[in-house]
Amino acid sequence: MTVRWGILGAGKIAESQMAPAIAAAPGHELAAVSRRDLGAAELFAKRHGARRAYDSVEALLEDDRVNAVYVATPPHLHARETVLAAEAGKHALVEKPMAMTTAEAREMIEACRANGVVLTICHYQRFNARHQRIKSLLEEGAIGQVTAARINFSDRFPPQAGFWHHDPEISGGGPMMDLGIHCIDLLRYLCGRVETVAALAETLVDSSPVDDTATLLLRMANGAQAVVTSHWTTANHQPERMNRLEICGTEGSIRAAPISAKDSAGTLLVSTADGIRDYGVEPGGPRPHVALLEAFGQAVSGRGPNPIPGEEGLAGLAVVEAAYRSARSGQFVALQDPPD
Ligand SMILES: NC(=O)c1ccc[n+]([C@@H]2O[C@H](COP(=O)([O-])OP(=O)(O)OC[C@H]3O[C@@H](n4cnc5c(N)ncnc54)[C@H](OP(=O)(O)O)[C@@H]3O)[C@@H](O)[C@H]2O)c1
Repeated sequence: MTVRWGILGAGKIAESQMAPAIAAAPGHELAAVSRRDLGAAELFAKRHGARRAYDSVEALLEDDRVNAVYVATPPHLHARETVLAAEAGKHALVEKPMAMTTAEAREMIEACRANGVVLTICHYQRFNARHQRIKSLLEEGAIGQVTAARINFSDRFPPQAGFWHHDPEISGGGPMMDLGIHCIDLLRYLCGRVETVAALAETLVDSSPVDDTATLLLRMANGAQAVVTSHWTTANHQPERMNRLEICGTEGSIRAAPISAKDSAGTLLVSTADGIRDYGVEPGGPRPHVALLEAFGQAVSGRGPNPIPGEEGLAGLAVVEAAYRSARSGQFVALQDPPD
């Protein structure tokens, strides 16, 4: 089955990553795009070979050629648009954060279930070839019992015109919703469930209604301790330090950067008593977005599992919500399994 995509919110990430990935993935084609600015939608469609451009989600969802949508509007629209897509019988691949709240995430999961469509969350880091290698190494016990992890995904993002991230009604929160959600998902992919959360989320620099600097302390269900930092207030002159993962165990440690590579390129060093092994990937390596699309295509054709089900996005959001509760209360917050 050909996956004929409609992009909802044909903006920056759709332009830079998903439209080129759709063009590169066998069995996928871009059928239509939508955004409020019809002229911009038409230009996007022309650049990326889509047949139709629309100025509303509702109009795109009436297009019979489209059988799956990529939801790439800002977060406050993800739940509404996914529910509408499900009711129109379209499968959905939804950008992170999946929704503004876990309550919205549940509505999305229920709507997709009720309408028999696949709901996948675009946590593309799970398809980074280095991260898949790390998962195999951990499963093989390459570094013994995992006891600690640290992930930093940070940059300097002051409020600026057209940048909706500082508006909590649109973004749902600060850097944890933007960057930290990637770290939490990657940690869950590699190390399993998060059991307990403590966090600081503060507005340190910018005059902003959302926090700009967040630090999470996590206890994983396997007993490991983890620290996630996601800051909009730290200048990024050394990407290797601002976008990195470290996992330590009783027999060794793993270090990888950057976590956000769009071609899996970067370092992956595994240190054990046998020395340091380098599993780095050169630029131009496997593209996580293309691999994710291929897995999504298998899922919607009934030939494979849903690569990142809505429940995974919900579990990541539950960690962010718990972190905000902890930041407000100054207490550790325990997470339910599955999230309550
Ligand atoms: N996975 C990743 O690495 C990654 C990276 C970046 C972003 N993202 C996620 O992808 C989503 C989109 O991010 P983006 O940077 O591509 O966003 P964007 O370009 O700012 O917005 C996407 C489109 O949505 C429409 N839009 C913007 N603000 C809107 C509003 N207030 N109400 C209704 N429509 C609005 C815009 O078109 P019109 O104004 O013409 O309607 C725009 O083209 C977000 O959830 C973001 O977190 C993911």
